[in-house]
Amino acid sequence: MERVQKVISNLGYESRRNAEKLIIDGKVLINGHVASLGDKVKDSDEIRVNGVILDRKNNQNKVYYLLNKPRGVVSTSNDDKGRKTVIDLIDTSLRIYPVGRLDYDTTGAILLTNDGELTNLLLHPKNEIEKVYLAKIKGIITGSDIHKLKSGVMIDSKKTSPALVKLKSYDKKTNTSMVLITIHEGHNHQVKKMFLSIGYEVLKLTRLKFAFLDVKNLKSGEYRMLTPKEVKKLYGLGKN
Ligand code: URA
Repeated sequence: MERVQKVISNLGYESRRNAEKLIIDGKVLINGHVASLGDKVKDSDEIRVNGVILDRKNNQNKVYYLLNKPRGVVSTSNDDKGRKTVIDLIDTSLRIYPVGRLDYDTTGAILLTNDGELTNLLLHPKNEIEKVYLAKIKGIITGSDIHKLKSGVMIDSKKTSPALVKLKSYDKKTNTSMVLITIHEGHNHQVKKMFLSIGYEVLKLTRLKFAFLDVKNLKSGEYRMLTPKEVKKLYGLGKN
C-alpha cells in the first residue's frame, strides 16, 4: 500500500506537489470516491485524476521533465563542489538525470528523465537532434564570420557540421551581437568554442529549443512534465 500522491507522481503523471494539490482540490478519485491526502492505495485500486483513469500496468514509471534551467546550476546529477544541480529543482522521488549538459552559466531548455532508452536516442549523433541557441557575443559579427559558422569551424581539431546561423540583432553602443544558432552535435562547450574559434567571446548563452521543445512558457527555474504525445514524438526522431 502506498500513498496515492506518491503513486501518481511515481507513475509520472504529476509531480508530488501537483498530485497533492489535485487531491486537496478533490480532483482525485480512488475507486470512484474522492481521495484525501494520505489515502493509501493497493495495486488493484482504480485511480482517476481529473477524470482520467491512470494506467498503472503499462507505464513503467518513466518520467520526463522539461526544465528552463537558470544560471548558476550544474547539469549533472551530483556536483563534487556541492553546487546546486538541475535535479535539485525537480520535485520527484525517482532517480532522474539530465539528457546532455548545459554549462553552469547557460540557461534554457533541458530534459530530465529516467528513461535510458530515450536518452540514448536523443544523444546519439546519428539522430541529429536539433538544438537552438541564442548567443550574446562580444563584437559585431560580420557576414563572412556568420558564413564560417554556417559551413563549419574547427574546434578541438574537428570541423563542426553545417549549422543554421542568423544574426538577430546587434548593438553598436554595447558592441554586442545576438546570434541564433542551430546545431545538432553536442560537443562540450560547443557553441562557445565555435564562436571563440573565429574570435568572438560568448557573453550569454541560452538554449531556446531542444528538438521541438521550447521553454517559452516556463519561467527560469520552472519545469513541466512532457505529455505522452511529446514523448512519442521524441521517440519518433530516432533513425534506424
Ligand atoms: N554550447 C556551449 O558552449 N555551452 C552550453 O551550455 C551548450 C552548448
